Amino acid sequence: MDGNGRWAKAHGVPRVMGHNAGMQAMKKIVIATSNMGIKYLTVYAFSTENWKRSTEEVSGIFNLIVKYVNSELEELDENNVHINIFGEYDMLPKASVDAINKMVGRLADNDGLVFNIALNYGGRDEILRSVKEIVAEGKDPDELTEDDISKHLYSGSAHFDVPDPDLIIRTSGEERMSNFLTWQAAYSELMFTDTLWPDFAPEEYTEMIEAYSNRDRRFGGRKEADK
Ligand code: FPP
Repeated sequence: MDGNGRWAKAHGVPRVMGHNAGMQAMKKIVIATSNMGIKYLTVYAFSTENWKRSTEEVSGIFNLIVKYVNSELEELDENNVHINIFGEYDMLPKASVDAINKMVGRLADNDGLVFNIALNYGGRDEILRSVKEIVAEGKDPDELTEDDISKHLYSGSAHFDVPDPDLIIRTSGEERMSNFLTWQAAYSELMFTDTLWPDFAPEEYTEMIEAYSNRDRRFGGRKEADK
């Protein structure tokens, strides 16, 4: 959800107001995703690297999570949304951890959109955790498969097995992966837009989903038509 800081600068307001605008954009994208019948959505809300930011900004983001839970929980439940957290969120302030646990618990039985929030998440860290768990289980290295690694990632151990992303959208003109779903993104389609995240509206999102549906995905194989 990139570009909140630049949006704030452009509007002459503090960075945290940019994140607040980003949260408003996120709300609309979640509902649009659910309405389009897309089953899985993952947002990158806070990376393991984001701790380097000022205390004011970091606590501003964490406060927004509490605000989001308080204002959106009913609507998320009405829309049958299920939430998973990807990342070690127990290191966040207690108020945020409590709010997240309340939200995850309340929506646990919902089977509509699976909305994954990456919080204190890093892709390499996730792979490392997976490998450590497998080693701790005493797995024979000769028997180790890619599937074993996938199953020990946050996406593989979630209540609903979360498949690899079909499409990754990055906003605000950045064109790199920044430690997002590093293992899972091996064959994902990528799309980039210059739009700053707070301005990323369901209309542009829908256009991107339509453009995605016309892409030819080969997963390293050959096109059906060429065979
Ligand atoms: C990146 O923009 C955005 C973030 C690090 C924070 C995103 C968080 C939210 C939108 C709130 C999430 C709320 C919930 C409930 C998950 P940036 O600050 O890197 O922007 P810049 O590149 O323009 O500086």
